[in-house]
Amino acid sequence: MEKLIIEGNRPLKGEVEISGSKNAALPIMAATLLTDEPCIIRRVPKLRDTMTMLKLLRSLGKRAELSGHEVIVESKGSLRHVAEYQLVSTMRGSFCVLGPLLAKLHKARVSLPGGCVIGVRPVDLHLKGLHALGTKIEIENGYVVATAKNLRGTSVYLGGVFGSSVLATANVLMAATLAKGQTTIESAACEPEIENLCYFLQAMGAQIDGVGSHRLVVSGVKRLHGARFDIIPDRIEAGTYILLAAATRSDIRIKGAHYAHLWALVDKLDQMGIRVINQNNVIRLEHQWRLKPVGVTTHPYPGFPTDLQAQFMSLMTITPGVSIITERVYPDRFIHIAELHRMGADIRREGSNAIIQGVKVLHGAPVMASDLRASAGLVIAGLMAKGRTEIHRMYHLERGYENLDDKLMGLGAKVYREKE
Ligand code: EPU
Repeated sequence: MEKLIIEGNRPLKGEVEISGSKNAALPIMAATLLTDEPCIIRRVPKLRDTMTMLKLLRSLGKRAELSGHEVIVESKGSLRHVAEYQLVSTMRGSFCVLGPLLAKLHKARVSLPGGCVIGVRPVDLHLKGLHALGTKIEIENGYVVATAKNLRGTSVYLGGVFGSSVLATANVLMAATLAKGQTTIESAACEPEIENLCYFLQAMGAQIDGVGSHRLVVSGVKRLHGARFDIIPDRIEAGTYILLAAATRSDIRIKGAHYAHLWALVDKLDQMGIRVINQNNVIRLEHQWRLKPVGVTTHPYPGFPTDLQAQFMSLMTITPGVSIITERVYPDRFIHIAELHRMGADIRREGSNAIIQGVKVLHGAPVMASDLRASAGLVIAGLMAKGRTEIHRMYHLERGYENLDDKLMGLGAKVYREKE
């Protein structure tokens, strides 16, 4: 195992290029199970999670290779219907092979992903949607065993206690593409990653109306064909570099992101006194000397993303006054608070709220990465802090940030890896 060392409090400068979106790539790679024909997916980020999805596709009987940022998935014999615990438990995104397997093979046995440090993370909405399409579902020894003689179109409401679900929408949508008749998904997730999945499915021959809205209408087709496709830029990676620039007051040029996917963040930073400017597909920040505290509430898209909450909290730790974060997607996603305390932050948690009293400066410290986005928050804190920060278990970062250390070094940061 390796740890990431950061010598903080240095001015950063330069340009960073945003990679393809992890959370778009994962369901799109899973969607290749819906066809026997070859699929070529470009701009796939080289990450631990996309490597896990490649392994999973191979374990299901596909030939799946990554060359540069291009993934080629081809058939080589018959498809298997079992997604094993070892691959699903390391990455929840693996659970979205359930819908495609069921649509293609009429049966699937997929391990339940289990909880993780950001919360309980149930799959009831996935199962509700697939059941509505005519699937018999049983839970056997930690696996979802799903069978359907014929999937048939229906109307299903996929809103849950915390709003719409990204991967439940992906699973039900993919299953519906090959169902008989019309399926309407009400309260569908409208994240750009789901929109990108819809475009990929359309490129494969699927018939979907309402793309990008909370109401997806799918007319089932008999078969889908291969397709070539480009993954969208990663809005969470882009948001992380924007927050890193804001927190270190740096002049960084962020290239290749979709500004339109970042409005909730841009608006919050504007309220704090930081203007985010987009010119010719390059994002830059204009900083004001004194930042203003704000309140941030996470919501499904187009609301403020939970996947940027930890990174925003790091910025708030040095913002004068009292800032508040309310987590409405994963009410327990606050494990980073304890680590930020170790760096001198003043944060109090009350239920799903975090109350942050700005301090003058953070100090470097050894800290523990617990999940991907919490770790990204610690990287930002480490870059702002005086002295040396050691981020243990840095493999969490490798799940979702392509070439993080190289990109940071390219901006002039002093970061390096050491063996634990
Ligand atoms: N939920 C249910 N029942 C379900 C499914 C979800 O109650 O059947 C709840 C969840 O517990 C949560 C809320 O609904 O409170 C939203 O969860 P959602 O299902 O949308 O999350 P997900 O699809 O499992 C994806 C991303 C996450 C991101 C969330 C929210 C992927 C691979 N993962 O997860 O990304 O936080 O949407 O935007 O797309 C990350 O990249 O670090 C990450 C965790």
